[in-house]
Amino acid sequence: MPLPSVNPTTTKAWEKLRVHYKNIKHEHMKNLFAQDAERANKFTIKWEDFYVDFSKNRITEDTFKYLLELADEVKLKDAIKSQFSGEKINQTEERAVLHTALRAPKDAQFFVDGRHVMPEIYQVKQKIENFTNSIVSGQKKGFTGKPFTDVVNIGIGGSDLGPAMVVESLQYYKNHLNVHFVSNVDGDHVNEVIKKLNAETTLFVVVSKTFTTQETLSNANTLKTWFLQSAPKDAIAKHFVAVSTNTESVKNFGIDKANIFPMWDWVGGRFSLWSAVGLSISLAVGYNNFDSLLKGAHKMDTHFKAEDFKTNIPVVLALISVWYNNFFKAESEAVIGYSQYLNQFATYLQQGIMESNGKSIDRNGEAIDYETGTLIWGEPGTNSQHAFFQLIHQGTKLIPADFIGFVESLHGNEEHHDKLISNFLAQTEALLNGKTKEEVIAEGTSKEIIPFKVFKGNKPTNTIFIKKLTPESLGKLIAMYEHKIFVQGIIWNIFSYDQFGVELGKQLANKILREFNNSAVSNHDSSTANLLDYYKKFK
Ligand code: F6P
Repeated sequence: MPLPSVNPTTTKAWEKLRVHYKNIKHEHMKNLFAQDAERANKFTIKWEDFYVDFSKNRITEDTFKYLLELADEVKLKDAIKSQFSGEKINQTEERAVLHTALRAPKDAQFFVDGRHVMPEIYQVKQKIENFTNSIVSGQKKGFTGKPFTDVVNIGIGGSDLGPAMVVESLQYYKNHLNVHFVSNVDGDHVNEVIKKLNAETTLFVVVSKTFTTQETLSNANTLKTWFLQSAPKDAIAKHFVAVSTNTESVKNFGIDKANIFPMWDWVGGRFSLWSAVGLSISLAVGYNNFDSLLKGAHKMDTHFKAEDFKTNIPVVLALISVWYNNFFKAESEAVIGYSQYLNQFATYLQQGIMESNGKSIDRNGEAIDYETGTLIWGEPGTNSQHAFFQLIHQGTKLIPADFIGFVESLHGNEEHHDKLISNFLAQTEALLNGKTKEEVIAEGTSKEIIPFKVFKGNKPTNTIFIKKLTPESLGKLIAMYEHKIFVQGIIWNIFSYDQFGVELGKQLANKILREFNNSAVSNHDSSTANLLDYYKKFK
């Protein structure tokens, strides 16, 4: 059954929200808190080790009710069922979307085209486990008999961002292996990494679902050439492994069949860190931690599938985001992790959110006349407080933000942690309340400076407070955002799992690359033609 296709703007709930927005758009959250002592409790979801407080949003009980009605009217329940049942909900690419199967228990039932996929998933998981153990223990050695010290993940987009973000986030749990990521086709990237490597002790993991991606193949070839400068050809079998659906091309590249970790077309690149694409995660933190990451994600899947929408974390966060995006016309959202470990989290989410929901054609093939995908950005707190928070506090734009924090510090430095968390809590409070003119005057501010020191407040935030950063809680957090993406795609009536928008640039780059090697410069606008000429002249 195809996904339901409902233009959200034609629903009764949308109309209610439209009228309701007009009535409450100037309402200050301060008043909403003052009117209802129970507000924080009403708008908080406690689940496992997650405490999700969404009370600091410009919503009332009516808003919440209408948003839930919207979810019902666009048939979100049916859509969730379709996704988990392995139906080809990625209709434009005729693929199922089953990253959730990758983290399901062995006895789960997931079928694609009538084929039970769990046995294959568990075969690959076993292969990841065995391989990880042999490398981490030092049992598998390089071509000169030395144990591996370094791993290079070669991939881009979903074959880089997920693993890189998780390895960074779980640094505390890392073993002795140094894990590097090479993604950019900029040769300076790969050369900087090469500076840190010793061919005798380096393992290369080439990750590409398609094994056709220009950046990844260029970097893999450069690294292979560099490696062969000091290693014999047959050493490739010991030092190069690949993760791909394209076995033929991997073999042509020179990688042994035994060193191929398969993946499947029903796993989208940006949702693939749970598959063998996460091999470098497993190598960095050990298989058990990788498995805990998957288990955490599975717990979030179960919550998402079964929980009533009003206490369903991804659904609630998605609805609130739609409220700001489509009614307040907020253009962007910030994600601020109060943990230095999360410093790549927003970058990772950019692909997940913007590649999935940056669409302007609906599921009927019609052009859309309402807003879809949000811009996503962020940096960890407290650093971001000293960078862009000024604009969030006093700028003209409305920027809803997710604040993510952890109750426990991993290294147990309580003094620092108390300071960190006091900032975490203070910022959302400041964004909510602002500072009135009276308060500024009471501080003894000179008259002419008063207006500059007033904060309007009423800036919305969600607080996602988690017990501790562990592989499991990180798995839950990532899966939470994955499901939020799905819910928003359903509401906006778009296909979230294709990414045709990245193709045009790739095609043109190939065309221009060919022109560098011959004199003809054909068929470009005059600006591009001049720039091309300039490069050819001076390079
Ligand atoms: O950027 C487009 C894209 O297709 C992403 O969706 C994907 O994650 C990335 O390129 C890398 O693709 P591959 O894993 O096939 O090399």
